[in-house]
Amino acid sequence: MNTQKIDCRGLADEDVAWTLVGTLYLRAWESRLPTPILGDHYAAEAIERIDYDFPKLKRQVRPGSNQFLVGLRARQLDDWSTTFLTEHPDAVVLQLGCGLDSRMLRLDPQGTRDWFDLDIPQVIDLRRQLYPERGRYQMIGASVTDDGWLEAIPADRPVLIIAEGLLPYLTLTEVRSLLQRLTDHFPSGELIFDALTPRIVRMLKHFQWSPRDAKEIERWNPRLTCTEHMPFCTHYRRIPVRRYRILYRLIHALPALRNMATEYRYTFRPRALPQ
Ligand SMILES: C[S@@+](CC[C@H](N)C(=O)[O-])C[C@H]1O[C@@H](n2cnc3c(N)ncnc32)[C@H](O)[C@@H]1O
Repeated sequence: MNTQKIDCRGLADEDVAWTLVGTLYLRAWESRLPTPILGDHYAAEAIERIDYDFPKLKRQVRPGSNQFLVGLRARQLDDWSTTFLTEHPDAVVLQLGCGLDSRMLRLDPQGTRDWFDLDIPQVIDLRRQLYPERGRYQMIGASVTDDGWLEAIPADRPVLIIAEGLLPYLTLTEVRSLLQRLTDHFPSGELIFDALTPRIVRMLKHFQWSPRDAKEIERWNPRLTCTEHMPFCTHYRRIPVRRYRILYRLIHALPALRNMATEYRYTFRPRALPQ
């Protein structure tokens, strides 16, 4: 990692982009626990290099309890990714709405895979100051809704598509069209993401889309099959702090709270060959 300080003070609270500092901050916080769930020490190193109003951010993101929310989510997506990449060593990885997340360092520290991280240009400009583009790792500055970027990604192998914290920001039409473009482009693969319940989406600024259920996406796009989905707090037993483990256990016991946020895993099969 470079050592120069990166100025992120330009990310205003009303921009969606500032949320990426929030999630990075929570992962850094979580990594300092004696027995963390995720233990993302790259996030802790990255936070040291960022210039931001951290006292204000701390009040906004409340790391005491929310570090576990982000830690559990990222760990689940890392675990699914590891399983897929072990089964498909030649797979391409495409992470959408990557923010300042260090997943490529956590899962591919040597940069031996074709791995593409995409976010809007403003975010990729910041990201390039934090993480080097090395080996077969590349960053793409574009909106997922833009045309053109997908064509640059190899389509001759299975793909792992990761969208953590992204899809709620898109509209229904944008999500549908994105998933269609992805399954049209790649021969087969897996898609993993998280989503929120409609009630939470209605309550929070910037959020637009939430799935009605796991089958909704299968109805839009028959190449996608949901193989697993789980409430964000399913693995509350991993929480190393007793009072928060009890809190998340309570949340898990109440369906209205448990289903606030869910992680989804879809597989997409190879296209049927023409007759
Ligand atoms: C909550 S942050 C999550 C960042 C990262 N995945 C993480 O977990 O730390 C949401 C990210 O989605 C990105 N984003 C929102 N809309 C986008 C779009 N249309 N195209 C690309 N990225 C987008 C934001 O810039 C931001 O980095």
